[in-house]
Amino acid sequence: MENEFLNITDKRTKATYDVPFFKGAVRAMDLRKIKTGPDDFGVMSYDPAFLNTASCQSAITFIDGDKGILRYRGYPIDQLADKCTFLEVAYLVLFGELPTHSELKDWTDKITHHTMLHETSKKFLEGFRYDAHPMGMFISTVAALSTVYPEARNVLDPESRKLQIYRLIGKVPTIAAYCYRHSLGYPYVYPDNELSYAENFMNMLWKMVEPKYQANPALARALDILFILHADHEQNCSANVMRSVGSSQADPFVATAAAAAGLSGPLHGGANEEVLKMLDEIGSKDRVKEYVDGVKAGHGKLMGFGHRIYKNYDPRARIIKWAAERVFEVTGRNTRLDIALELERIALEDEYFIKRKLYPNVDFYSGIIYQAMGFKPEIFTVLFAIPRTAGWLAQWQEMIQDPEQKIARPRQIYTGYVVRDVVPLEKREVAAVKGT
Ligand code: ACO
Repeated sequence: MENEFLNITDKRTKATYDVPFFKGAVRAMDLRKIKTGPDDFGVMSYDPAFLNTASCQSAITFIDGDKGILRYRGYPIDQLADKCTFLEVAYLVLFGELPTHSELKDWTDKITHHTMLHETSKKFLEGFRYDAHPMGMFISTVAALSTVYPEARNVLDPESRKLQIYRLIGKVPTIAAYCYRHSLGYPYVYPDNELSYAENFMNMLWKMVEPKYQANPALARALDILFILHADHEQNCSANVMRSVGSSQADPFVATAAAAAGLSGPLHGGANEEVLKMLDEIGSKDRVKEYVDGVKAGHGKLMGFGHRIYKNYDPRARIIKWAAERVFEVTGRNTRLDIALELERIALEDEYFIKRKLYPNVDFYSGIIYQAMGFKPEIFTVLFAIPRTAGWLAQWQEMIQDPEQKIARPRQIYTGYVVRDVVPLEKREVAAVKGT
């Protein structure tokens, strides 16, 4: 144990410091004692975009990006996708263990009985323009639930937290389906308690005049698998937003809406929509090489490729590729899959992508499946947000219960003026405005 220190010599003062290791890391606060004198603030770590900073301890999701490993609570993602339903996995992610038979029955019952939206929330949705982006509608409606359940602010009460978890997991498919139907001008369909989570979602999306919606079992299972694969992904952009907003003890509805906003960007969950646009822009297999050359020459990025953590094949992309084949057995093959396969083949053999360790990520194939199932690209990120709500809530719950966590408040390195006097309006001259 005596060697479990990082020995630092400050060449400014010649002082040496033993900084203890904590689970393989050093605590940034331990650097503060490195000072040039009593008035010195001490050393800070500078890490834009958190490239090398652990912001928390977490027992939820493990990723080994170099080996392409993803596990929830220790269970490999491929086993979960093969043997479990999304609701079992959501329970696992949230509460730490796979449910027993009776726990699953109770959990399913709770979720099923929290799927309805308050009628005023429906009216709220009706206020959006017919062409509003579904992700904007989703984010706003999730945030608006905060006004329906003001008691959700009791974030330190475990029972209240549980109730909000039931509500959010139950209601996000309903919100998503209503956003979808709103954009098509169709009437909203109420949840059907006899159906599974994925089947009920499909019912709310696609039921028309038939008395009972019958989901295609292969498509329902494929959707459920996609939900499993998207349930959590440790400290990504949106999970970090969830923890950060939640750290101020804001209620989980607004925190989830904020996390969903983080997800919506094209560099995060919005990439699945961009992949489809890219495949359409490429148009045919024989134009792939030309497109890849353009990316290498600096014209945009290959959407659905690359990952901050995975420097190997994203294990979720492998399972999605498999699920895509199952979906196409029902829907017929989508030509975009052939373009995507060719794109993957060319990119994985290309020195540019090999050198940078750029592999397909989860978003590369998911959009192709969604489109084959009948979804428009604009709704793809909403489909991601439904299962990820379980992960966000698990991260939020873990953060609230962690005695080391406080309100998230990073430091900065100030680079502005030191101090200057205000010039009266009539004497001011035009100055170049920064940041525009
Ligand atoms: N296409 C072409 N080049 C790329 C790509 C890509 N998709 N991704 C990264 N690169 C290049 C960068 O230009 C950079 O090259 P350089 O070293 O010559 O400057 C190098 O690879 C490293 O990339 P960074 O941008 O430093 O990697 P970072 O970890 O910051 O970004 C990210 C990761 C945002 C996912 C990036 O790979 C990307 O923009 N991919 C496309 C968008 C996408 O698919 N996002 C979904 C991610 S999965 C998810 O969020 C659910």
